[in-house]
Amino acid sequence: MSEPAIGGRTPLPVEVEAGKDYWWCTCGKSAKQPFCDGSHAGSSFAPMQYTAPETKKAFFCTCKRTANAPLCDGAHSKLPA
Ligand code: FES
Repeated sequence: MSEPAIGGRTPLPVEVEAGKDYWWCTCGKSAKQPFCDGSHAGSSFAPMQYTAPETKKAFFCTCKRTANAPLCDGAHSKLPA
């Protein structure tokens, strides 16, 4: 798999609902970050399913370098400028 594009440089907070599915963009090309908009079509990327464990504000990774996908782990702070 090739390296994903950088979809953003800060996490995006989203109010998620317990038990609801969300489809996180893994390719970095979606215009609807942090979620998939189909822009990965024709690539080796596919969206990642996230089922919210509880109703809360979740901080989704947009840089696509997190080791805790789909949530932010602070990896964006180590991106080259
Ligand atoms: Fe990026 Fe679908 S648009 S995974």
